Amino acid sequence: MSSSRIPGFYNLSVAARRERLAAETRLSVEELAAFDAQGLSIEQADHMIENVIGVHGLPLGVALNFLVNGRDVLVPMAVEEPSVVAGASFMAKLARAGGGFRTVAPEPVMIGQMQLLDVDDLQAAADAILAEKERLLAETAEIDPVLKRLGGGPRDLEIRRIEQSPIGPFLVLHLIYDVRDAMGANAINTACERLAPRIEALSGGRVHLRILSNLADRRVARSECTIPLSELAFQEFSAEQVRDGVIEAWAFAAADPYRAATHNKGIMNGVDAVVIATGNDWRAVEAGGHAYAARSGRYTSLSEWGKDREGNLVGRLELPIAVGIVGGATKVHPAARAALKLMGIENAGQLAEVIVSVGLAQNLAALRALATEGIQRGHMGLHARQVAIAAGAEGEQIERLAAQLVSEGAVRSDRAEEILKEWQHNG
Ligand code: MEV
Repeated sequence: MSSSRIPGFYNLSVAARRERLAAETRLSVEELAAFDAQGLSIEQADHMIENVIGVHGLPLGVALNFLVNGRDVLVPMAVEEPSVVAGASFMAKLARAGGGFRTVAPEPVMIGQMQLLDVDDLQAAADAILAEKERLLAETAEIDPVLKRLGGGPRDLEIRRIEQSPIGPFLVLHLIYDVRDAMGANAINTACERLAPRIEALSGGRVHLRILSNLADRRVARSECTIPLSELAFQEFSAEQVRDGVIEAWAFAAADPYRAATHNKGIMNGVDAVVIATGNDWRAVEAGGHAYAARSGRYTSLSEWGKDREGNLVGRLELPIAVGIVGGATKVHPAARAALKLMGIENAGQLAEVIVSVGLAQNLAALRALATEGIQRGHMGLHARQVAIAAGAEGEQIERLAAQLVSEGAVRSDRAEEILKEWQHNG
């Protein structure tokens, strides 16, 4: 695609937006139809989970302006909250002026855990397993021939001692496993289950749980951006005020878990929206992100904000991003497939790079608003449309009513209904 900057996109109709995307990307108008409300058929849904009675819809928007490692990317976001897509797009525009997002893709490496119980001598059991490590890894490499052919498979076997637990000390084995372009849960769980009897034979113990860890701290994606000072001033706020306000806001989250939870939630607004749009497991990414935020023993901010020598605002974000582009819903959900194609994603690492960049942009959108005019002003403008629709506004009434609610500073359903009645009364 040529550019992720599409001026005026916001003002187009849904059909016209699709036409623009068809012109700008590898997706045809027909393929874009996968994003229709009926994009996932009842039959397809029925094959995905149990007891299906329908399909749950979420709005799917496209975030613009993203430049990730020099590559323009249009970002599909599935989210119910107003101002998330607009916030990400606007911050991506500011970051673009500073060269866009500089990212490091994660190694596609997951951790599978085996809980080894009923062992009398933990050290002797660990020694016996480690003495056989190379053989165990070689055997594990044969479990998944497809992964092996693609260059994935077991990388290491580590042993940790849990000294204190409600059932006393025990060993935990970590199978370090390269899952290539998959999210990897199935591959790693299978490998752990297959390896368990060998571990039991070597240690004389009992392997209890065999399951991946969502604290995927070997699969950490990183993104950094520089917002030129010149891009930061707006309304009555000077560039320095905005920059320092963002840094002060970040310091609050860095120091206080109550604030860090909300700060990180703002990051996940962006992260989850892309994870969901691409058919990935957002609970896994959420769990990994929050556990990573507490890795020092104290829950803190996932991002960092500061300034460089020239006084520009610099932001960084790192968190585990366990997502795939093969297998699971990423393959069977038509809208997820179309979303990946829209982004021009070629491997799971690239997808993680985009996701972490969207998280950083979303974080900046929230901090910039909170540090200046407050979150409600921008939020209310968009929220007002939902209030207008809920009150019964239709067609062009929606924007008109929303604008009036905002200008009155009364974005409330009772006032929306009252105005609609007045309009009906006046013909
Ligand atoms: C709302 O969905 C997200 C924010 O609360 C994030 C934040 O406070 O940083 C605005």
